[in-house]
Amino acid sequence: MQVKENSFLVTGGASGLGESVARAIVGQGGNVVIADLNESAGQALVAELGDSARFVRCDITNGDEVQSAVEMAESAFGGLQGSINCAGIVVVQKLLDRDNNPADLEAFSRGVNINLVGSFNVARLVAASIAKRIANDSNAGGHVEKNADQGIIINTASIAAFDGQVGQASYSSSKAGVVGLTLPLARELARHGIRVMTIAPGVFATPMMDSIPEKAREQLEAGVPYPKRLGAPNEFAKLVTHIIDNAYLNGEVIRLDGAIRMV
Ligand SMILES: NC(=O)c1ccc[n+]([C@@H]2O[C@H](COP(=O)([O-])OP(=O)(O)OC[C@H]3O[C@@H](n4cnc5c(N)ncnc54)[C@H](O)[C@@H]3O)[C@@H](O)[C@H]2O)c1
Repeated sequence: MQVKENSFLVTGGASGLGESVARAIVGQGGNVVIADLNESAGQALVAELGDSARFVRCDITNGDEVQSAVEMAESAFGGLQGSINCAGIVVVQKLLDRDNNPADLEAFSRGVNINLVGSFNVARLVAASIAKRIANDSNAGGHVEKNADQGIIINTASIAAFDGQVGQASYSSSKAGVVGLTLPLARELARHGIRVMTIAPGVFATPMMDSIPEKAREQLEAGVPYPKRLGAPNEFAKLVTHIIDNAYLNGEVIRLDGAIRMV
């Protein structure tokens, strides 16, 4: 599927990896609906990107709000071809604190709810929109060609899904869940010609990393075998546009990490 003239929902598109994806899609002649909680950053970005971009304030865990974002793409751009789900949060807490008190259950659940349940919520509503478009096309006499790429759902996991650190129980298990969504959804949606892929980034230079002290950042960079630096958001965006373009990529998780393995 080409990016050009197709429309994509980019969650978390007001910042970091999602922002870079939105810029890349518009840069290649596609359309984006940016769905994010951060209204001011999202509005500023669409003002810059112009007529090929729309913003919707949306919590990815909320069914009605994601449905409104999907409908915005349908009405503004005449249909939706896919989603790139970049909205996510980091939750850091140990199972037991310094005094052996148990972790806060609500904090654990918040990470799983946004990162995993939110990814599923976006996937189900985007897939329904694409399936409806295909049915409308064929009811209108259109011919849906065998093996024609109809849609793409790209989720964002993390290398923490595989190499979880102490304190990352919520984050790692939520991202492992995103990895686990990939194959069953790809198998299920195959009959609609919709592909499902997941990217597991290593450590990228985004606002999410701003809270990390300079010394810790230097240590992270030193831990990347090559290239010895954090990933650039546009390197993530390049992989996204390649996945959209390459119809044989399906049901797989790609680590994008400069060969880092967290120990
Ligand atoms: N930056 C990294 O090193 C890194 C590494 C691995 C995985 N990731 C993953 O990549 C994704 C993007 O991360 P980033 O570094 O660009 O972070 P970021 O904080 O720069 O951007 C995340 C965006 O998601 C939005 N968001 C958060 N919760 C939301 C919700 N419930 N509904 C809608 N929007 C919401 C935020 O407002 C923000 O604009 C996340 O899923 C993150 O876990 C990032």
